[in-house]
Amino acid sequence: MSPSTLAARFVSRRRQLAGAAVIAVALGLLGMLYAALAPAGQASTSTDPAVQRGAAIYGQACASCHGFNGAGIDHVAPSLIGVGAASIDFQVGTGRMPLKEHGPEAPRKRTQFNEQQIRDLATYVASLGPGPQIPQFSAQQWQRADTAYGGALFRTNCAQCHNFAGSGGELTYGKYAPSLTDATPRQIYEAMITGPENMPVFGDKQITPAQKLAIIKYIRTIKTQADPGGAGLGRVGPVTETVIGWLAGIGVLVIVTIWIGARA
Ligand code: HEC
Ligand code: HEC
Repeated sequence: MSPSTLAARFVSRRRQLAGAAVIAVALGLLGMLYAALAPAGQASTSTDPAVQRGAAIYGQACASCHGFNGAGIDHVAPSLIGVGAASIDFQVGTGRMPLKEHGPEAPRKRTQFNEQQIRDLATYVASLGPGPQIPQFSAQQWQRADTAYGGALFRTNCAQCHNFAGSGGELTYGKYAPSLTDATPRQIYEAMITGPENMPVFGDKQITPAQKLAIIKYIRTIKTQADPGGAGLGRVGPVTETVIGWLAGIGVLVIVTIWIGARA
């Protein structure tokens, strides 16, 4: 082997080593970058005290089903990354979450948390990924809306599931659309922008914020309205009214007929 070929081999070996070193350094940097950016463990890396308080409540009440950092657990509960503060405020505020037992429908129940705790939970979940925020509007804003307009919008968009009087109705597979009498204006708004379970999401393009306030006005108005004609008959609509009318009406006719027959 001539000295020149020996030198050439030495150079190429050094090049290989240098290439390997560059790759090793690059991989190391990538690892450090990942460690810095990836969500770590259950404790949130955020320094916001609301996020930290929310994370603590989450760890106790929600993580067993929704997993660490809201990642979700297969066949147990969906991921909460990106559901947004509005969804948490709705689900926890209406007492649906934490879920007690699995069923076709998560029922409304008394919430276990106070307003502050719900806000903290919402802030924590919102920090995991962007989603719809808790809507901000005043009582005057929806009270000023047009009830008749809200009623028309309600009948087009909501009545097929919730019934035209907002008293709820059955859906398929044991699911049902609940009565709307207990929902607060904020919860009604949140239901529209988050679409819980089988309910579709009504984005601001489909139903504008002003129209949402009109729908809220309508729902709150029918809730407080007494039945103008006396007994509401469950407010199920013309079918029950007709059935009652026929049965009661024919009953009276039969009694009158019997009475006339008995006199003859
Ligand atoms: C026993 C299990 C269980 C527990 C505990 C639980 N959840 Fe859930 N959660 C579910 C299931 C199952 C669903 C999906 C079905 C549904 O919405 O009814 C769900 C749905 C949700 C949704 C709606 C997600 C979406 O995609 O719109 C939110 C928000 C939510 N949970 C928040 C919470 C919070 C916050 C807690 C803790 C306070 C919690 N959950 C505790 C089982 C659970
Ligand atoms: C396809 C059927 C469907 C349509 C259409 C629908 N909803 Fe719902 N809605 C549901 C179901 C199902 C639930 C219960 C979800 C759950 O339990 O997680 C619900 C829940 C709600 C709740 C929560 C009630 C409570 O007291 O907790 C409100 C408020 C609501 N809907 C308002 C509306 C409004 C307003 C519209 C029209 C803009 C509408 N919904 C359209 C199916 C529907």
